[in-house]
Amino acid sequence: MMTKTLSIAYGVLLGVLTALGGTARAQDDLPRTAGPYVPTPQTIVDRMLQLAAVSKDDVVVDLGSGDGRIVRTAAKVYGASGFGVDIDRELVERSNAAAKSEGLGARAVFVQQDVFKADIRKATVVTLYVLPEMMVGLRPKMLSELRPGTRIVSHDYHFREWLPDNRLSFDVPEKRDAVGFSSTSLYLWIVPAAVGGRWRLEVADNKLPAPVTLNFRQLFQNVNGEAQVGNRTTDIAGTKVRGDTIEFALDAGPRAGGDRFTYRGTVKGDVIEGQVAWGMEPGARRYAWKATRIEPPADKLAH
Ligand SMILES: C[S@@+](CC[C@H](N)C(=O)[O-])C[C@H]1O[C@@H](n2cnc3c(N)ncnc32)[C@H](O)[C@@H]1O
Repeated sequence: MMTKTLSIAYGVLLGVLTALGGTARAQDDLPRTAGPYVPTPQTIVDRMLQLAAVSKDDVVVDLGSGDGRIVRTAAKVYGASGFGVDIDRELVERSNAAAKSEGLGARAVFVQQDVFKADIRKATVVTLYVLPEMMVGLRPKMLSELRPGTRIVSHDYHFREWLPDNRLSFDVPEKRDAVGFSSTSLYLWIVPAAVGGRWRLEVADNKLPAPVTLNFRQLFQNVNGEAQVGNRTTDIAGTKVRGDTIEFALDAGPRAGGDRFTYRGTVKGDVIEGQVAWGMEPGARRYAWKATRIEPPADKLAH
């Protein structure tokens, strides 16, 4: 829940950016639909990259990259690679010149492109400082093109109903010059695997009661559903999806003395594989399990 102060600050910044963005056009007259050029102060860039836990293994993509400072910092400080896209040719040229003078080579590249046209499938981290309506407009692209586990960090704006997995709020006095106030929020999302639909679940060597069918309903990272175990229907409990991992529990039925089966697995497209523990004890017996999607969800992962 947003505090009242933050909510007011949000409204003011929104007004500033919308007023600037509504009319502003980039140098060669392409519309700045994602908002005007307002650079993220370096101290916030540093916090964004920390929040995403960027490392040398990451591919960092900034959509609406301005002077390229986010991708250039990721390359310089963390040894990551990545690219930025911006609609403004002059900013793209400035970014590439800065990357060149910093000796970043192919690890920080900038192209003039609309955010919707960017190929973001290789990103492991996406950064955003774009207008609120552009955040919501980009949501389907994020969910359909980014791999599960990709981290998205946004400066000040969020994906509305897709709630963040983490959030930081703090003051940055130098921001006052640009937008009139200093309060700042950063949001982090972990792209969830798409697990909606019906799955057939099997446990190695038929160790646990079978057949089991799972029916998952998904709204972003929130998942619930029910399981058919033989001729018994039971709720699927405690489902958690984080990136490509899933965890849930099924009660083991009347003959198992109240025990639970706790499933943990990794989602790869239409297959989930993992281990199931029978009982809650640390030394509980564990078996390999596998589920295969047999029916897609009625609604795709909600956008
Ligand atoms: C608020 S600035 C953020 C710059 C940079 N990401 C940062 O945080 O310092 C938004 C940037 O998005 C760019 N932009 C606006 N509309 C765009 C679009 N449709 N496609 C690509 N870039 C766009 C603007 O030119 C501007 O540089």
